[in-house]
Amino acid sequence: MYLKNLKLKNFRNYTEEEVNFIDGINLFVGNNAHGKTNIIEAIYLCAIGKSYRTLKDMEVINFNSNVCNLDINYIKDNIENNVKININNLNKKEIIKNDVKIKKLSDHVGEILIVIFSPDSLDIVKGSPSKRRSFVDMICCQLSKSYLILHQEYMKCLKLKNTLLKKDIIDKEYIHILHEKMSDYIIKIVNFRKNTIDKILNKAIDIEKELTDNLEYINIKYISDFLDKDKEEVKKYLDDHLYIDILRKSAVKGIQRDDIDIYINDLDVSKYGSQGQKRTALLTLKLANFEVLKEEMEETPILLLDDIMSELDSTRINFLLKYIENYQSIITTTDASFVNNVDNIQILKVLNGTLEK
Ligand SMILES: Nc1ncnc2c1ncn2[C@@H]1O[C@H](COP(=O)(O)OP(=O)(O)O)[C@@H](O)[C@H]1O
Ligand SMILES: [Mg+2]
Repeated sequence: MYLKNLKLKNFRNYTEEEVNFIDGINLFVGNNAHGKTNIIEAIYLCAIGKSYRTLKDMEVINFNSNVCNLDINYIKDNIENNVKININNLNKKEIIKNDVKIKKLSDHVGEILIVIFSPDSLDIVKGSPSKRRSFVDMICCQLSKSYLILHQEYMKCLKLKNTLLKKDIIDKEYIHILHEKMSDYIIKIVNFRKNTIDKILNKAIDIEKELTDNLEYINIKYISDFLDKDKEEVKKYLDDHLYIDILRKSAVKGIQRDDIDIYINDLDVSKYGSQGQKRTALLTLKLANFEVLKEEMEETPILLLDDIMSELDSTRINFLLKYIENYQSIITTTDASFVNNVDNIQILKVLNGTLEK
C-alpha cells in the first residue's frame, strides 16, 4: 500500500498544508522544531487512530484554533481510500473512513499499515520491559483486531482487580471470578505474542546476518510466566499469588509483566551490547517488523523514519536505503547529505509549519 496525499488543517504548527507523496522516498528536510515529526505524527494518527506523542488528542490542535482536521488518501489493494480525522477542543475525535464514521477505535487500528522508527525506538533495546511489550503488542494489534480486543478486555479486568485490591475489605470471591476470565485472555494473548515473536525472530536472523556480514546472530526470547501453561494452570497461578497481590495492593502477576530478551551472539544486548550493536539490533527488529507485516497482511507497510539517519553509520544507512528502494517511506532529517545516487526520491523543505518542494 502507499499514501497519495495528506491535508493538514490546524494540526500542531501547520495552519493549512498539503503534501502529495510519491511511491518511493519522501524526504522532509528542515531544522529543529520546524514541523518534521509533526508530519510523521499526522500519518501515524491517520494509520492507528491515536497519536504516540500525546495522552490527550486535543494537544495536537494548533494553539490558535479549536479544531484540527487531517485528511489522507491512500491506495490499498489497488483501491483508493480516504480517512478523515477531526479533533475538537473538547477532546472529541471523529474518524471517518470513506465517508463512514468509525464507531470504535479498534475497528480502525491497522487500517494503514505502518512501521515507525524514531530515536525513541532505541528504548526497545535499552529501556524498560514495557517498551518491548509495546513493540510486540503494536505488531500483534496490526496483525489482528481480535488481539487488540482481547488485550483491551484483559486490561479492563486488570484495572478492576487493582481497584478491588485497594479496598479495605478484599472481595476474594470476586477476584477469583476475575481470574477465571483473565486466564482465558492470558492463554490467547500469550499464544499470539509467542507466534508473533517467532515470526519476528525468523526474519530477524537473516537481516542481522546480512547487516553484519555474518558476524552477529540475533536471538529473541519471550519471557512470560504463562508459557506452556493451560487455562487451569494459569488460573491456579493467579489464585496462588493473590496473597502477594493483597500485600502489595496491586496485581503482581499477569501478561502486563511479560518481556522479551534480545541476544546478540548469545549476550543480552541490553546489558552487554555496544552502542553500535544496540542500533544494529534495533534496525534488524524494525525491518523484521516490516517483513512480518508485509508477509502476513499481504500489503507493504509504509516506513516512517523520523530523524534516525544521523544515528546510523554509513554502512547501515546504505543497507537501509537499498532495503527501502522498492517501498514507500517517509523520512525526516536535518541533514540530507546521506542522499546521493538515490532514485525515486522527492525532497520537501520544512520551514515553520510550511512545506516547499
Ligand atoms: N499544538 C500545537 N500548536 C502549534 N504548534 C505546536 C503545537 N504542538 C507543537 N507545536 C510546535 O511544533 C514544533 C515542533 O515540531 P516538530 O515536528 O516536533 O519539530 P521537528 O522539525 O524538530 O521534528 C515546535 O515548534 C512546537 O512548538
Ligand atoms: Mg523531530
